[in-house]
Amino acid sequence: MLALAGAPIVALALLVTLGSCDASQTKVCIVGSGIGGASAAHFLRKYSGRPQNELHIHVYERNSVVGGRMAMVDLLGDRFEAGASILHPKNLHTVHFVGLLGLKKKTSPDSETFGLWDGKKFVVRTMDGGSSFITKKIAGLINALGMLWRYGSDLFRMRSFVSQLLKRFLHFYDEGRTPYSSVKDMLESVELYGYTQHTLVRELLREGLSVQIITEIVTMITRINYGQNVSISGLAGAVSLCGSGDDLWAVEGGNWQMADGLIKLSNASLGLSDTVLSVVSKDGVYEVTSSSGKNRTCNAVIIAASLDEEKIVFSPSVDLPKRSMHHTFVTFVRGLVSRDYFGLKDAKLPDLIATLEVPGIPFISISVLKSYNATDNAYKVFSRASLSDEFLDKLFSVRRKTIRLNWAAYPQYNAPETFAPVILDGNHLYYVNSFENAASTMETSAVAAENVARLLLTRLSTDGAVFNSGLNTMAKRGSEEL
Ligand SMILES: Cc1cc2nc3c(=O)[nH]c(=O)nc-3n(C[C@H](O)[C@H](O)[C@H](O)COP(=O)(O)OP(=O)(O)OC[C@H]3O[C@@H](n4cnc5c(N)ncnc54)[C@H](O)[C@@H]3O)c2cc1C
Ligand SMILES: *[C@@H]1O[C@H](CO)[C@@H](O)[C@H](O)[C@H]1NC(C)=O
Ligand SMILES: *[C@@H]1O[C@H](CO)[C@@H](O)[C@H](O)[C@H]1NC(C)=O
Ligand SMILES: *[C@@H]1O[C@H](CO)[C@@H](O)[C@H](O)[C@H]1NC(C)=O
Ligand SMILES: *[C@@H]1O[C@H](CO)[C@@H](O)[C@H](O)[C@H]1NC(C)=O
Repeated sequence: MLALAGAPIVALALLVTLGSCDASQTKVCIVGSGIGGASAAHFLRKYSGRPQNELHIHVYERNSVVGGRMAMVDLLGDRFEAGASILHPKNLHTVHFVGLLGLKKKTSPDSETFGLWDGKKFVVRTMDGGSSFITKKIAGLINALGMLWRYGSDLFRMRSFVSQLLKRFLHFYDEGRTPYSSVKDMLESVELYGYTQHTLVRELLREGLSVQIITEIVTMITRINYGQNVSISGLAGAVSLCGSGDDLWAVEGGNWQMADGLIKLSNASLGLSDTVLSVVSKDGVYEVTSSSGKNRTCNAVIIAASLDEEKIVFSPSVDLPKRSMHHTFVTFVRGLVSRDYFGLKDAKLPDLIATLEVPGIPFISISVLKSYNATDNAYKVFSRASLSDEFLDKLFSVRRKTIRLNWAAYPQYNAPETFAPVILDGNHLYYVNSFENAASTMETSAVAAENVARLLLTRLSTDGAVFNSGLNTMAKRGSEEL
């Protein structure tokens, strides 16, 4: 994979005449230094083939660090992913970034046990494999048989649904694709749009899955990955199910390093702790005003942040369909989960405790991030509301340190989905995060940003050149493996 990713991308070195007004330098301003903004900067630099003195890229970031929803938290000396944590092996842009930037991948441990809690008991529990190879193997077998006993061929139907959609998604890496100015057209081009128009539960029932696997396993996964139940769209649901298989990975030392590396590689200038307040279009250029008090004139502006909770003033104003962000509360605890809470006397608690969508359970999941000794672990708890000290004192028998985060995490999904335009003003104001109504992940932000970079360069170029990612070979190989 990585060797292929490093293959020369000759076709991309096409030089284009950027149709800017007077000066020879074209200025592109990007709002946001998350994976979307960083990818946009990277692809603009790569596809244009132009150095900074011809194509100036500036990235605005209101935080004091880059990465956005890729961020770390420090819990008594160890650092953990606080936001986006896992990637899929077929996330070809991010796989490529890691190779390009010389970062290291780390894979998740394979022997995690899980339990599904209904508020009174564990409805499903996998066994602990112990430490020796042979017991691990037997436990794996019993778990697989147990799961097979409970869900039967539904497990295969679930996997086949996911791989069908993944196969279509891989066409986003095809060579020679035209850039899209509408998310709907972009999704239709790979036959995924329909899945944004119906709920996941409807799609899975159509595939013949039983109500039992949907309300148990599938709901558990969508709750963990999107904080929401199976009423999210089929596409967001399939993406969420992708984040539950084997071979998931993360960047060693933190996923935010992808954004950091891409911004540096693209030679963009970066303004940290600088919030964009307004974008005013006049005389064919944009005047961007930010909290630093300095105005910047840009030929094009790329918004690579979700505008739902932002207060950027656009003039003339732009029209966006209403969308609210789902808030996910992440609580990190160093200590020990109480066995009493789960009514267990001596059995070991699962590494991942997930919950069903039933009223009265205040949390979505608890997972062990690291074990220090028998009474000292690092945990990550997801919930839909802030967890009180009173509740945490019931859930944990020991609590040495608690850190609470509240993320405007991803859209509140609501099929049928509507999408904001990719070009907000018919001119050169672009919006990467209109794609988030399809799904919100690091990879999909990169896919959306790559499309915006191609769209911008194609629309600015005088010869209508179309730009490509060069990942086609990887995608082909990827779909053969499915
Ligand atoms: C708890 C949690 C878990 C997740 N888990 C996963 C996962 O396991 N795998 C996965 O792939 N995805 C996951 N996601 C989703 C993933 O984090 C996002 O889809 C992705 O990181 C979005 O990247 P982005 O660049 O589009 O937006 P962001 O990362 O939000 O970047 C936008 C940036 O713009 C900045 N900004 C906003 N407004 C302004 C302004 N006016 N001026 C200047 N700067 C501004 C923000 O500070 C931010 O840094 C998770 C998200 C959360 C919250
Ligand atoms: C990026 O910056 C480095 C160091 O300033 C310079 O050597 C390199 O040529 C620049 N590359 C581009 C594409 O601008
Ligand atoms: C699933 O979530 C939706 C939207 O929040 C809600 O209306 C619905 O009642 C939930 N379904 C179940 C089974 O709880
Ligand atoms: C910056 O731009 C804003 C909005 O266009 C304008 O009101 C303001 O006068 C400008 N400031 C400077 C210093 O040019
Ligand atoms: C486990 O670690 C904690 C704190 O790091 C310490 O207080 C406790 O004594 C240790 N327990 C055992 C059994 O080693």
